Amino acid sequence: MQKLKLTEPIINKEIKEEVVVENESSEQETKELKKTKKETKMEKSKEMLVTDLPGVGAATAEKLATVGYNNLMSIAVATPGELIEATGASEASAKKMIIAARSNLDMGFESGADVLEKRNNITRISTGSNVFNTLMGGGFETGAITECFGEFGSGKTQIGHLLAVNCQKEDPSAVAVYIDTENTFRPERIIQLAKGAGLNPEQVLKNIKVARAYNSDHQMLLAEKVEDLIKKNGLNVKVVIIDSLIAHFRAEFIGRGTLSERQQKLNKHMHVLSKLAYMNNLCVYVTNQVMSKPDQFFGDPTAPIGGHIVAHASTFRIYLRKGKKGTRVAKLVDAPNLADGECNFAVEEQGLRDIE
Ligand SMILES: Nc1ncnc2c1ncn2[C@@H]1O[C@H](COP(=O)(O)OP(=O)(O)OP(=O)(O)O)[C@@H](O)[C@H]1O
Ligand SMILES: [Mg+2]
Repeated sequence: MQKLKLTEPIINKEIKEEVVVENESSEQETKELKKTKKETKMEKSKEMLVTDLPGVGAATAEKLATVGYNNLMSIAVATPGELIEATGASEASAKKMIIAARSNLDMGFESGADVLEKRNNITRISTGSNVFNTLMGGGFETGAITECFGEFGSGKTQIGHLLAVNCQKEDPSAVAVYIDTENTFRPERIIQLAKGAGLNPEQVLKNIKVARAYNSDHQMLLAEKVEDLIKKNGLNVKVVIIDSLIAHFRAEFIGRGTLSERQQKLNKHMHVLSKLAYMNNLCVYVTNQVMSKPDQFFGDPTAPIGGHIVAHASTFRIYLRKGKKGTRVAKLVDAPNLADGECNFAVEEQGLRDIE
């Protein structure tokens, strides 16, 4: 018995060592492969590294990388304040970093043809309703922020759930990120919608990454972390849902005196989201509430919250309201290349149904 006990670990050790050696050699191989890949890439574009920027040593580069500034582009489009916050550098050196990053990147103008080519990569996520898709020019666009505002029960959360499911219809590897601020994400609802779309509910649920945001700072941090899911974890994120965009901000900043602080934070948040959408060609969907305008005598006495900041940052804005007999009306109120219009649909167990 004793002998056995003694020999067993030895055998295990040998095996382990072998495994370790095997791992080492394969690790070395991949390292070499990465190195050659990097070298050829550098030769091709003579790419500058973050550590080549003025005032950025290994330690600063690491600080920058931990908050997502791991390439020149991310630094070139950052604000000095963001870099100061990340590294503790002075304003002058932060500005120098940005200028150096900008001058080494081809950040100039591109031709209309180039932009068109980029736009050809844009995909559109189906809502499951033909009339709604037509209103949106084929579906919810990647590379942009789409905002839905409307009163309670108008269907904003339903659309969020639908997008999380439907992005997987075109591309089974697609991942949806759901930042839930009001505890309204329901896996049971996803199962219903997945069945309605003819997809495997279990698989669909696996490809949705949900995070509860407990306050506005947490929400902003989660939005920043999506970049890691893409870059570090290699996930094919196609849609990021923030439901609701505004609830925490609205609850935390009460009164006129705090309005400018709220708007500043919201501005930063929207900036992160639009960069995320554009750089990764993914669809950002945010929901917004409405407030009543007591001084409005004509037309609709409600208006979206968030003011100009949310309005300008959103590429598409949809106003949702309840229609006749439990139906819903979606009105496109702002879009860069689509006509304003309306459509009618019903929310049903398996998805949306057209009402002509
Ligand atoms: N399984 C279902 N089958 C049919 N209709 C459903 C189903 N689940 C939800 N709905 C419809 O969706 C409505 C809720 O909409 P939703 O939760 O999207 O509203 P919301 O705009 O997000 O509201 P809030 O501002 O309160 O968050 C329900 O009142 C119901 O009409
Ligand atoms: Mg909701």
